[in-house]
Amino acid sequence: MKILEVIGVSKHFGSLTALQDVSFTLRRGEILGLIGPNGAGKTTLVNLIAGTTPYSAGDIHFLGKSIRGLKPHQIGRLGISRTPQIVKPITDMTTLENVMVGALFGKKGKKRTVRAARRKAEQTLELLGLAAKSNVPGESLNVQERKRLERAKALAMLPTVLLLDEVLAGLNPAEIDEGVDLIKKVRDAGVTILVVEHVMRAIANVSDRVIVLQHGEKIMEGKPEEVLNHGKVIEAYLGKRYRALAGNG
Ligand SMILES: Nc1ncnc2c1ncn2[C@@H]1O[C@H](COP(=O)(O)OP(=O)(O)O)[C@@H](O)[C@H]1O
Ligand SMILES: [Mg+2]
Repeated sequence: MKILEVIGVSKHFGSLTALQDVSFTLRRGEILGLIGPNGAGKTTLVNLIAGTTPYSAGDIHFLGKSIRGLKPHQIGRLGISRTPQIVKPITDMTTLENVMVGALFGKKGKKRTVRAARRKAEQTLELLGLAAKSNVPGESLNVQERKRLERAKALAMLPTVLLLDEVLAGLNPAEIDEGVDLIKKVRDAGVTILVVEHVMRAIANVSDRVIVLQHGEKIMEGKPEEVLNHGKVIEAYLGKRYRALAGNG
């Protein structure tokens, strides 16, 4: 069953082609990995799906209907949530209040109440191991905690589809494993997930399928073990990274 269909989308920023005729399908209940070198167009693609960036060509269908031209909050209400790649500065709201915002303004469903939003936010903070920080101002959270908070906000929206843009970046190996487990838990709770990630081990562990972008074009799609070991992908992406890693000693 297709949840999300990206159909021949292209995006230009002036003379720069960020995405060129990209098509893929997200199936219900799967975790789809999206990889590619820096500047490949991954975040742009997430922005197109979330409605924060308009596109020059193509269409995106959610549950069989076009969502092209809808505003981000309308797309959020339909059931698509995303986490920003850059951790946004947080206001003087507490952690709990921040997550309640996600719960209140998320997917349309039963009547939303502040009380229900609070309960949802508490459950979500519990799931993400942030319950102890519920009542501290968001500002006082460290970078890792802020990332968890962003995930909690996106999750509290009870999405049908969750878009994760490099949420594991900057974490240590133990935290990456924890993040991978968490992503799987969220999927097992019934959420379909698009994961944009640079951490190869995480992509290999978490994805049911992987698609690869290079210079705005989809160059490959398949099972993680096929895609990640393919010469084309190693050259386009891993080769560069391995060289960079070797260069850094
Ligand atoms: N708002 C923008 N204005 C102009 N160029 C942009 C903008 N956003 C992204 N780009 C360019 O589009 C390309 C794809 O960027 P991005 O989607 O961020 O790549 P990735 O997330 O794969 O690293 C890059 O060349 C980037 O510089
Ligand atoms: Mg990006």
